[in-house]
Amino acid sequence: MVPADSFREDVIAGLSLPQKALSPKYFYDAQGSRLFEAICRLKEYYPTRSELALTHLHLREIASFARKGSTLIEYGSGESAKSRLLIQALRPSAYIPVDISADALRGAAAMLRRRFAWLDIRAVHGDFSRPLKIPVAQAKGRRVIYFPGSTIGNLTPEEAHAFLRTTRGQVGPRGAMLVGVDLKKDANVLHAAYNDAKGVTAAFNLNLLARINRELRGDFRLRRFRHYAFYNAALGRVEMHLVSLERQTVNVGDHRFSFEAGESIHTENSYKYSIEGFRALARSAGFKGGKVWLDRRGMFSLHGLEAA
Ligand code: AVJ
Repeated sequence: MVPADSFREDVIAGLSLPQKALSPKYFYDAQGSRLFEAICRLKEYYPTRSELALTHLHLREIASFARKGSTLIEYGSGESAKSRLLIQALRPSAYIPVDISADALRGAAAMLRRRFAWLDIRAVHGDFSRPLKIPVAQAKGRRVIYFPGSTIGNLTPEEAHAFLRTTRGQVGPRGAMLVGVDLKKDANVLHAAYNDAKGVTAAFNLNLLARINRELRGDFRLRRFRHYAFYNAALGRVEMHLVSLERQTVNVGDHRFSFEAGESIHTENSYKYSIEGFRALARSAGFKGGKVWLDRRGMFSLHGLEAA
């Protein structure tokens, strides 16, 4: 779990902004992680399936890019279906999964230990958006950071730049990075992916308020808020919001917040990149734009970046 104090501080600060905002990293409590896994199985939500397909399709090339015997560090490992494939093909000397959800991390590490008895696994519970104490110093061989799932899309391009610079420092001069990046596409496809018919994405978004109620003595009434997601073409991102359906006040612990009817809390950005756009970003952060792999439909990309 994230230390409760930083969650509280971030929520109070975020709800005090003129445009109220909460960080998407707080979606992933136990319930949120379960809902996210349900999103990944939705027919409208193409990213998970597309990324798994491209990993199957190009597994050999991806593994030879990363190189056998490397130390594989995975950020936001979660359920790790793709990592299983990659570990099998790559045979890394060590695997370091890093995740903000302790439950997801424990489950995944236990599963991988049973499956790959030969593998040195060192799970790190943490928030990779902050400076991390990863046991990379002891890492044998080449360090490769695996950052799948288009989690990088949660960052603004400026934040993504800073993040890539940090990871460039962590992998060192002979290191590399494998980054999953969702691609720009038809706005209707994007809209459907974040507005699924079963309402799972809505439940995932609203769970953030339920989590505040559970952990921070909040009194959000979930029925007074509505899930709202749309593609902001000018900024190249899907935005998720929670819109207040009426004028109301909400308490979080001893803090009180007022909402106008129609006022929103901005809960997530999910940036979509062109292949060239992401390459340029990676180059500006100290990586050589190496390889890029796509699924057959060209929905999703995996970039293999070498330290420059
Ligand atoms: C895990 C951040 C990649 O942005 O698509 C899924 C999260 N939000 N549905 C994404 C998410 C709504 C997802 N990422």
